[in-house]
Amino acid sequence: MTQYVAAIDQGTTSTRCMIFNHSGRVVSSDQVEHEQIFPKAGWVEHNAEEIWENTRRVAAGALAKADLTTADIAAVGITNQRETAVVWDRTTGKPVYNAIVWQDTRTDKICDRLGALGGGQERYRGKTGLPLATYFSGPKIAWILENVEGARAKAEAGDLLFGNMDTWVLWNMTGGVDGGVHVTDPTNASRTLLMDLDTLSWDAEIAKDMDIPLSMLPEIRSSSEEYGKVRERGALAGVPIAGILGDQQAATFGQACLSPGEAKNTYGTGNFVLLNTGTEKVLSENGLLTTVCYKIGNNAPVYALEGSIAVTGSLVQWLRDNLGLISTAAEVEEFAKTVEDNGGAYIVPAFSGLFAPYWRSDARGALVGLTRYVNKGHIARAVLEATAFQSREVIEAMNADSGVPLTSLKVDGGMVVNETLMQFQADILGVPVIRPVVNETTALGAAYAAGLATGFWASEDDIRENWAQDKQWEPAMDDKVRDREYRNWKKAVTKTFDWTS
Ligand code: G3P
Repeated sequence: MTQYVAAIDQGTTSTRCMIFNHSGRVVSSDQVEHEQIFPKAGWVEHNAEEIWENTRRVAAGALAKADLTTADIAAVGITNQRETAVVWDRTTGKPVYNAIVWQDTRTDKICDRLGALGGGQERYRGKTGLPLATYFSGPKIAWILENVEGARAKAEAGDLLFGNMDTWVLWNMTGGVDGGVHVTDPTNASRTLLMDLDTLSWDAEIAKDMDIPLSMLPEIRSSSEEYGKVRERGALAGVPIAGILGDQQAATFGQACLSPGEAKNTYGTGNFVLLNTGTEKVLSENGLLTTVCYKIGNNAPVYALEGSIAVTGSLVQWLRDNLGLISTAAEVEEFAKTVEDNGGAYIVPAFSGLFAPYWRSDARGALVGLTRYVNKGHIARAVLEATAFQSREVIEAMNADSGVPLTSLKVDGGMVVNETLMQFQADILGVPVIRPVVNETTALGAAYAAGLATGFWASEDDIRENWAQDKQWEPAMDDKVRDREYRNWKKAVTKTFDWTS
């Protein structure tokens, strides 16, 4: 009897395999980090082959840790860091260049060039729901074709394939050069700047603007159906792969935000607030993205408004790895707790420019408000507060776009174990913050997509029933303090503009 569903979560800093039971509880998990490659300021790369190797390791590891065998697993789902682009040779299976990560800003000139064709940053908004920005995959593919020797000729000859990390992992899991399936889902495709949000198909005109041959692009299927079986001889061999969701959409699904008006905020390397808008596509007037939330089998696609924040948890890593101010991520809360407030210091971590709601690739990070009084505790606090302030900015944009103010916020992701941050988030938003029992909603969402396709779960009602609250934080900050702090934050943000000219 197969009692479990597995999910591969290919994230920005690590690859995980998690195994869930029918109640949506974690029974096993394994995780391996991969190298972050920073060749130049603003450039971020991953070694796609290392990531594929790690995927195999964690799949085997998660089974072994719970003494399970492949026969116990009904289906596997894939979820992934979105927008990270890899281009590989279909005949050798080798990437022609490292994967260019979503945080990478090298394509700013390409984006300017495309905008200059007419329409500027809004050129593709109507079709794709996205502003022209370095964040998305399409310009990254263009950069590879323009800069990697021999890539253009190979692409024209039909030898190169593109994928976000979902497609790379799926192609390899289903056999690679030996019959690998070259497929993606609409949530990932909607992050390329190449997909039409209404038809859920590649847009030939945009691909032509970027000079990207359509033959490189994967087939867009739904987020929940069987794409193929695992072709490995080892772990998960023969198990159907039946779900693909970009990680933020997966978290939305795993949080059971399945009705219009429901929203979540995931605290990962970045923060991503997604609001389910149902089968209606809402175009933002306040700097948010319109994206596909999920498409289950033959059902109509469900859309979302998204507030993407590039740097939140990765600011804590920067404090640890680049400055050595803390030795573990958890220490940031210990130091933050040694002080009452931020002591007047604000950190705006515009390391990848600023994403929503600003979309300024010319922005760079700033630490402002310093006096001789400021100590390590204040800096730690400012680091945590940056996440909460940025979240408030995108939630305000969401309230303005939807016309319906959010009355509570469901949260998940690595940083929500940080109680100081959660309380400050409730304080600065002025609404309750709610954490579920299963905080691993990203992997869980991908497992749900796979389990729905294979009949392991009967319907979305199972997902709603499995969701349970763990803890709720109530706002406790005085209105005047809240307004003053947010005003100071907004002022700090203005100090980050115009640093790259
Ligand atoms: O869009 C980027 C996002 O998918 C990365 O997510 O979980 O690595 O912060 P995460």
